[in-house]
Amino acid sequence: MQIVLLGPPGAGKGTQATKICEKYAIPHISTGDMLRQQVASGSPLGNKVKSIMDSGELVTDDVIMQVVEARLSQPDCKNGFLLDGIPRTVAQAESLGTLLLKMGAPKLKVLQINVPDTVLLERIQGRQGQSSRSDDTAEVASKRLKVYWEQTAPVASYYEQRGNLVVLDGVGAVDEVFHRITTALSA
Ligand code: AP5
Ligand code: MG
Repeated sequence: MQIVLLGPPGAGKGTQATKICEKYAIPHISTGDMLRQQVASGSPLGNKVKSIMDSGELVTDDVIMQVVEARLSQPDCKNGFLLDGIPRTVAQAESLGTLLLKMGAPKLKVLQINVPDTVLLERIQGRQGQSSRSDDTAEVASKRLKVYWEQTAPVASYYEQRGNLVVLDGVGAVDEVFHRITTALSA
């Protein structure tokens, strides 16, 4: 199973990805988590992307696609994977399409998790206390949301035009949203 989870910051992509990957025994590939690991390790890539992530802007498509291509070439991705946080631009969606074709017949299912902006900001601010994420401040969260509407929302239309988009309501208890997702995946 090849799954893409789309949705604004705070939609619950990471939360649902953990549950989906456990159920279907596929690796969880989160570009945000991979970049945060690079930042924490102080690698050259980490140093390059830190200030971009802290500002709420997107890391360049080239850098992201290199990271994702390297990860998807690992043997554990042969039988499927879940992508969380990528593609985030139409250019990334196009590059991903090319990459998946190189890997074999793509069987991508794209799930868009929708949550109203007011709820998203509440969730991110609720996490601020416990999380070590430097981009969870009110100011950067609003910026991430703005970037989402400008650059990532068109990715949903991209997949809708290709007929493989399922849109889900992300409001409700975590298990309720998970039930909507598994129902959509088994359809
Ligand atoms: P990334 O790490 O992808 O962050 P994000 O998209 O901004 O989203 P979050 O991780 O904050 O939200 P989420 O949807 O995973 O929700 P979560 O489950 O955590 O990206 C960070 C940065 O990295 C970007 O800004 C960019 O700079 C860079 N980057 C990453 N990928 C990139 C790419 N492809 N291209 C370019 N740059 C890239 O949930 C949020 C909170 O809500 C949690 O506290 C959770 O407990 C709670 N919650 C979850 N579900 C529910 C529910 N049903 N009810 C109540 N609360 C809930
Ligand atoms: Mg996340």
